[in-house]
Amino acid sequence: MIGIIFGVIIPYIAFAIFVVGVVYKFIYWAKSAVPLKIPTTSGQQKSLKFIKRTIYDRFDSPYTKWETAVRMILEIFAFRSLLKNTRYYLDRLSQRDARWLWLFAILFHYCLLLVLIRHTKFFLEPVPSFVEMISELEAFKGVFIPSVYVSGVTIIAALFLLWFRRIFLSRERCISLPSDHFALLLLLAIVISGNVMRYFIKVDISAVKGLLLSLMAFNIPQAVEFANSIEPMFYIHFALGSFLLAYFPFSKLMHAGGIFFSPTRNMPNNNRAERHVNPWNPPYKGITWQEYYEAYKDQLDEIAESGYKVKPEVL
Ligand code: HEM
Repeated sequence: MIGIIFGVIIPYIAFAIFVVGVVYKFIYWAKSAVPLKIPTTSGQQKSLKFIKRTIYDRFDSPYTKWETAVRMILEIFAFRSLLKNTRYYLDRLSQRDARWLWLFAILFHYCLLLVLIRHTKFFLEPVPSFVEMISELEAFKGVFIPSVYVSGVTIIAALFLLWFRRIFLSRERCISLPSDHFALLLLLAIVISGNVMRYFIKVDISAVKGLLLSLMAFNIPQAVEFANSIEPMFYIHFALGSFLLAYFPFSKLMHAGGIFFSPTRNMPNNNRAERHVNPWNPPYKGITWQEYYEAYKDQLDEIAESGYKVKPEVL
């Protein structure tokens, strides 16, 4: 029964919520009005010819589509805005480097990427060679059996560092919501249960793979058969993973998709050169001089009588 509930029913529901939630969020964001251009910048904006811009200015304050694309890429792969993180200390009257946050964030996200890439071996048959290669490259052999995956262990440390930051630093504690703690704790529970499963309470990996492949093929009788043969430890990890999937679209974790829609990141800073019109404005039709005159006939005639010119100049 545990197998059917946690191995078949809950994962399907979670996946459906994930897909519907993400699509809903994307449509909602794509439909939002963008009335103003708000590219937060820190570099020299493109201006008069004699005002020089360095290469950093071009990515910090992009003017063209390509410069903006480079800024997005650097933001997504290198978390560049976090690299500008400084902190003002009133007692020392100074601005200090606080880039350790960047380090913790990079550490966590790249470990997560590696863990998820390695997890595709449970979902794909045959396993792509680059997944095998990554698993091989980061497997630390010789000390422990099975070999220790560096990213799988480092991610625990990275999550603790991110969590301690919210607990021990007073200002961060002040702005941390329960949902901030919850997201970190949920991820911690998932990665810790995954590691426990790999190193201490082993489960039948071939049955796990059989279950996942049957779920993907919608072969429910076969999925139930595999699900019933897997040890309960797997269902702790899998249930937490399913919960994460369902929670993802409605949580702060959705920043992974939101970054693409962020006007502060995806808009070029060309305010002075190009007028920004909200793309969702209804089309402007305008009126002819004749229509204008009909609408304000009395006032315009009165003005004309006082000797003012009311007809527009022909340019
Ligand atoms: C919901 C789908 C998931 C399934 C079916 C799954 C399955 C598994 C299995 C079977 C193992 C044991 C591996 C072994 O013994 O070699 C494992 C380990 C692990 N899992 Fe998951 N998992 C899922 C989601 C996740 C997620 C979302 C995360 C991260 C947030 C995660 C993080 C880990 C970690 C860190 C390990 C330890 C071993 C390693 O580094 O690969 N898992 N998982």
